[in-house]
Amino acid sequence: MAGYRNKGNPGLMGWIDDRFPATAMWEDHLSKYYAPKNFNFWYFFGSLALLVLVNQILTGIWLTMSYNPSAEGAFASVEYIMRDVEYGWLLRYLHSTGASAFFVVVYLHMFRGMMYGSYRKPRELVWIFGMTIYLALMAEAFMGYLLPWGQMSYWGAQVIVSLFGAIPVIGPDLQQWIRGDFLISGITLNRFFALHVIALPIVILALVVLHIIALHEVGSNNPDGIEIKEKKDENGVPLDGIPFHPYYTVKDIVGVVVFLFVFCTVVFFFPEGGGYFLEKPNFEPANALKTPDHIAPVWYFTPFYAMLRAVTYPLFGVDAKFWGVVVMGAAIAILFVLPWLDRSPVKSMRYKGWLSKVWLLVFAVSFVILGVLGALPATPGRTMVSQICTVLYFAFFILMPFYTRMEKTKPVPERVTG
Ligand code: HEM
Repeated sequence: MAGYRNKGNPGLMGWIDDRFPATAMWEDHLSKYYAPKNFNFWYFFGSLALLVLVNQILTGIWLTMSYNPSAEGAFASVEYIMRDVEYGWLLRYLHSTGASAFFVVVYLHMFRGMMYGSYRKPRELVWIFGMTIYLALMAEAFMGYLLPWGQMSYWGAQVIVSLFGAIPVIGPDLQQWIRGDFLISGITLNRFFALHVIALPIVILALVVLHIIALHEVGSNNPDGIEIKEKKDENGVPLDGIPFHPYYTVKDIVGVVVFLFVFCTVVFFFPEGGGYFLEKPNFEPANALKTPDHIAPVWYFTPFYAMLRAVTYPLFGVDAKFWGVVVMGAAIAILFVLPWLDRSPVKSMRYKGWLSKVWLLVFAVSFVILGVLGALPATPGRTMVSQICTVLYFAFFILMPFYTRMEKTKPVPERVTG
């Protein structure tokens, strides 16, 4: 009931509060938002994701001022930004490194959620908004990668768009509709530019707002997976809660400083990230007549790319490529239903049994191995390992309703620990 609070006070803030719930919003989301007092290292990544989001938007706006979204001018305009625009090199490296940083932070943020059962009731919508952000982020990164119009931009887009062509019946038309042309061309570049700089950032921003509103409605989870709202003092303040501001705003600054230290080291000393953040063939202009020897997506897509390539058998008379696309889509889709697969009586990994712990480890290791394999050219041996890891990845989810019910859990304490 934010609208009925802080009314009739004197001064400028009073005048504003009579017309707009400024103080009420400050209280609800910061000074009187009670967060569990036992947040640990893993809780830095939400605020860091916000920081990287702001970095991407600001550097993106300034890059757009000098970028030319045409097949004829794109590559040269990026060179112009790098060489002639004042601090253009810094803007570009902040943005390209920022893209990789976004995925590092988001992957750790998601893993935290999986460890502590943050997706469980009543936070299912927080998780679903998060997963939708993740989908939008993948689309955003994919479209952004076409913009420098280098060899990998071109051929990477070619490979991914051609995946839609594997869909029976509608595939070929769909593929052409996405490209807006018979092959990836300036027309494709133009529409990807529009989506990358306007449409998707709006969607992502809106989703982040929904994500945080949903979280603040139910309150944050914590490493013990205990609902702090169940034990309140006489004023209705959770006994294990502390005001987000100033306690966590100050704590999050520590995370920001450490993050910026690492981030700036990469930006200033290793902006290409050994060919993983900016791939080598992308320093050559796009050439529709010359396919690079080895086409690999940027590292954050490689686990899914490895799953796509792991499917080598046609089924029901349909091409293996189509089933690869299905498996890749399912690998992401299954994360959406995670809240309903976990049937454990406890939320946090701290109190789950060893089966859950082993399966989470198997899941994480398989994901990393798939990531490594997806970046390498396929060989029969690597394909076999990808197939095993793909099976393990899905087994983690599909078997979850069983092993979370079977295993013996530890008793959860009444109040948060540590
Ligand atoms: C632009 C990307 C994102 C931003 C800016 C963002 C921001 C935040 C922030 C500020 C918090 C509260 C602080 C914290 O708990 O760390 C949070 C919590 C949470 N986020 Fe995200 N998030 C993003 C993406 C995601 C994704 C991709 C997922 C999962 C699919 C996700 C799942 C969650 C969950 C489950 C929580 C509650 C955690 C808990 O209370 O233990 N978020 N997010």
